[in-house]
Amino acid sequence: MINAERFLSDLHHLRSFGASGSGVVRPAYSEPDIAARIWLAERMSEAGLATRFDEVGNLFGLRDGQSLLMGSHTDSQPEGGWLDGAFGVIAALEVSRASAERGGPPVSVVSFQDEEGRFGVTTGSAVWSGGLELAEADALLDHSGVSFAEARARMEHLTSGPVDASRFTGFIEAHIEQGPVLDQAGETLGVVTDIVGIRDMRVTLTGQQNHAGTTPMHLRRDAVQGLARIAVGLEERLRNVVTPTSVWTIGHVSVSPNASSIVPGKVVFSMQWRDGDLERLARMEEVIRDVIGEVAEQLGLALEYGPLLGLDPVAMDTGLQLRLASAADQVAPGKWRHMPSGALHDATNVARRLPVAMLFVPSIGGISHDFAEDTAEADLIAGVETLARAVAQ
Ligand code: GLV
Ligand code: MN
Ligand code: MN
Ligand code: MN
Repeated sequence: MINAERFLSDLHHLRSFGASGSGVVRPAYSEPDIAARIWLAERMSEAGLATRFDEVGNLFGLRDGQSLLMGSHTDSQPEGGWLDGAFGVIAALEVSRASAERGGPPVSVVSFQDEEGRFGVTTGSAVWSGGLELAEADALLDHSGVSFAEARARMEHLTSGPVDASRFTGFIEAHIEQGPVLDQAGETLGVVTDIVGIRDMRVTLTGQQNHAGTTPMHLRRDAVQGLARIAVGLEERLRNVVTPTSVWTIGHVSVSPNASSIVPGKVVFSMQWRDGDLERLARMEEVIRDVIGEVAEQLGLALEYGPLLGLDPVAMDTGLQLRLASAADQVAPGKWRHMPSGALHDATNVARRLPVAMLFVPSIGGISHDFAEDTAEADLIAGVETLARAVAQ
């Protein structure tokens, strides 16, 4: 028995931190992100949870003794939707409260830090789970050159100690699907089977900055021309090694000096690719490095790679999946399915330490990482009810 009104009220309150149009701008360690975490810690305390911020700003609300851990993240993309991460955290808080009120099993709550990869790939849960050394994380830079060490120092005054995974029996993360599958099928719930793997690296192409009027075309070493050829080359050459679910993205581009009358001397871009198969991820990497290397050579551009970050694909725990599936069957009979996740989640990291499972609710129009991201209220509530039933069972 959850309190849907209380859940919705908290979910909408969280939306006010960094609100921008119908979405949020709440990147990790920004002022609204930290303010949201402080507010969430207050809600946790009210629910009788002992709050703890670890050294990277992951926020835990703990029940005594052994408990199930539930949650997600409250940081956002530079332009994020209001539910990405937030839904899973407030759903967890509501299930924890409801379970305590009814004498159910103890549920602890977490909001991991920097899931959205301001500094890398799900940095907060990667450090917490031991997948990434703190010293390594500290050296990572965001796109404006701020280090992870500098950013997390902004939360140092809140740090209250580490949280060991051994106090938890498992981890369940609820999340919006962020894709079109459930919405198009008119279904309410997805029980996740696997989460895809990801690779991400920064690439720098350096040519020769020069005058855009006087430099003949054949003498140019133009970094933007290099980027354009790479983007087209990848479309052509990756086709031979991928499946319809493989994806690759050049999502961040920085051009220097970015002026109409200057042949661009330098381009820094993000190169990201995802697939459910470890070997295919490696084959994609070979093609990507080949294409980039060949273009750099053709155009006389110097080439530099940043660190290759990533997470391998992981399977969800079958026992926890079964419990979510039986609860989904009660809440939305005939309107749920098993499905893989193409988005990344903290659950991938937590799987290093605990059995993990995930539950999806639909995303309207399949839109996410955009202010327009949304989910029908009835579906959000069905998700929380399903979690509560699974926990009770
Ligand atoms: C993070 O939300 C990702 O899947 O990119
Ligand atoms: Mn998310
Ligand atoms: Mn996201
Ligand atoms: Mn994500």
